[in-house]
Amino acid sequence: MSEAARLRDLTARIEAANAAYHERDEPEISDAEYDSLRREAEEILAAHPELRAEAKALTQIGGKPASGFKKIKHRTPMLSLDNVFSAEDFSEFWQGKSRFLGHEGAWQVVAEPKIDGLSISLTYEARKFVRAATRGDGEEGEDVTANILTLETLPRELPQDAPDFIEIRGEVYMTKADFLALNESQERKFANPRNAAAGSLRQLDARITAKRKLSLFAYAQGETSAPVAGTHWEYLAALQGWGFAVNPLSKLIAEAEAEAFQAGIGAARAELPYDIDGVVYKVNDLRLQARLGFVGRAPRWACAWKFPAEKASSRIESIEINVGRTGALTPRARLTPVNVGGVLVTYATLHNEDEILRKNLRVGDIVELQRAGDVIPQILRVIEPGGGAPYEFPDHCPVCGSRAVRTDDDVVRRCTGGLSCPAQVVERLIHFCARGAFDIEGMGEKTIQEFYAAGWLHDAADVFALPAHEDEIAQREGWGPVSAAKLSAAIAARRQIGLAKFIYALGIRRIGENNAKLLARHYGGYAAWKAGMLAAGEIGSDARLELGSISGIGPAIATDLAAFFAEAHNLRTLARLEGEVSVLDAVSAATSDSPFAGKVLVFTGTLTMARPEAKARAEALGAKVTESVSKKTDFVVVGAEAGSKAKKAAALGVRTLTEDEFRAMAGF
Ligand code: IVH
Repeated sequence: MSEAARLRDLTARIEAANAAYHERDEPEISDAEYDSLRREAEEILAAHPELRAEAKALTQIGGKPASGFKKIKHRTPMLSLDNVFSAEDFSEFWQGKSRFLGHEGAWQVVAEPKIDGLSISLTYEARKFVRAATRGDGEEGEDVTANILTLETLPRELPQDAPDFIEIRGEVYMTKADFLALNESQERKFANPRNAAAGSLRQLDARITAKRKLSLFAYAQGETSAPVAGTHWEYLAALQGWGFAVNPLSKLIAEAEAEAFQAGIGAARAELPYDIDGVVYKVNDLRLQARLGFVGRAPRWACAWKFPAEKASSRIESIEINVGRTGALTPRARLTPVNVGGVLVTYATLHNEDEILRKNLRVGDIVELQRAGDVIPQILRVIEPGGGAPYEFPDHCPVCGSRAVRTDDDVVRRCTGGLSCPAQVVERLIHFCARGAFDIEGMGEKTIQEFYAAGWLHDAADVFALPAHEDEIAQREGWGPVSAAKLSAAIAARRQIGLAKFIYALGIRRIGENNAKLLARHYGGYAAWKAGMLAAGEIGSDARLELGSISGIGPAIATDLAAFFAEAHNLRTLARLEGEVSVLDAVSAATSDSPFAGKVLVFTGTLTMARPEAKARAEALGAKVTESVSKKTDFVVVGAEAGSKAKKAAALGVRTLTEDEFRAMAGF
């Protein structure tokens, strides 16, 4: 799966999880899984900031406010926290802060248990409590003033030393004991104390809330008319002085003490009267907090160090095989459903054939599972063999019956059915129509399967023939003239496409969005790309060398591209697509007037700036950066101690630039 497709998949899951958690108070996945989804998505975004627009769910915090409550817009957004999961991540987080500020020396941090409840904003005007709002989507929450007033421990008034106007933030939670008592007393059981707290607070009838025992810890400030303190630690003391409950385990420590603190809280966790899912570490100095500010949905001045994922055991019921777009046979284990950290798990990933062998997994085994950094739970080991026969990985495709083979050192077994395998065709079509590729609205998995079964879709080019079936589509169950016409319009709207998206849409093995972009940037236009790929079929040819010289395109990718172009049916599909769509050239107007637009550039020797930055700068100006010097090279940027490439440039008469000249031309 390409990173963009992966990101979309992650975003969709995060969105669904957000809705389940915040709008229905019924989480469908565990916090650990949610965190790992977010973490993976953030990693992709860090590498591909251009995808951020597609991942709105990631910047939206929590759920949309449920109807029934008055909406309250937060004066300053209620944000979330970045998560770390290990001592290594943690120290990296703080090193990042130091680099950001050029801050020398040790960090003073306030460590607070991360309460598993729901965050609340409490507003005091003229030192009187006036309003409480839930986080909602971070921008706008629900007015739960009446409900919060049922909390006996809430200070209704602040003393004279408090600012005239202040917003105080904290966590509403239910103790484990109150949760158990509540569940015992009623039919509808809550899954955990957090859900019970959320369900109790968001009662339209505050009398119900009053009967539930909710508690509150205060831990942060929103807007204030006058500063309260110079450090977070002093701020917490002020809150306590005003009558708020502040978590008694909170502690002012040096960053270096965090690991020990984390371990201590982890050990005490089970005995605490309330659920926690980690520890929050905050920069103590509020001036430094202000300088650090925010990034995306989270403050730079704090992080949550979460406890590790939970483990469980279950039995392997069967091993199922899925066939993907490139024919890969991917196994997964169906398990006796088991609850892992509040989530019902029915499947675990098995990765590939070798993994099953390595772990000696057999149907009937009792295995240990873990839900951690991976989206789908993983099997760690066999706890108790079930006495079944060793698993025999199929050597035929379970969908089309073609032979399934492993070539060279590939760990994956693939169906050889190609386009005669329905699984591959459908998966390819799904990819072709998906966001990041042709992005055809309405052409999702279900529709594609339906039209494939109807016999209208054999290859990608057939998508553009669908409008010819509009009348028939309109007659189908679940369709009508309006939706059929809408689909035709959506298809028509995509008859123009950029070269990178077009290349990506073809679903060539190993050509994800990044590699598609590299190819598009290098070849510039569809005709040049196709000609280059056809000629690159011959190993050792100039075209193959050119392909291999594109920075980021390795020999394996070149082989995959050549293999795609060696297939007659792919060439037929391309020829048909040429008649259906127009592919736009890759060089954009924004970079076309730069001195490097469309030019081929090679860096050699030691530069003062890091090579990745130099390369990114050049590419941003429209250059193609390659590794080796040839007649096609326009510029060689020569750093210190340059060797053979500089000589070759001289021999070929290619223009060389010093780093200073390069910087001047590039404008930095
Ligand atoms: S500070 C701008 N402190 O964790 C940062 N949050 O994952 C504001 N939480 O939305 C949050 N205990 O609901 C903070 N001691 C604590 C916390 C805490 C629990 C929750 C809070 C927040 C979420 C972020």
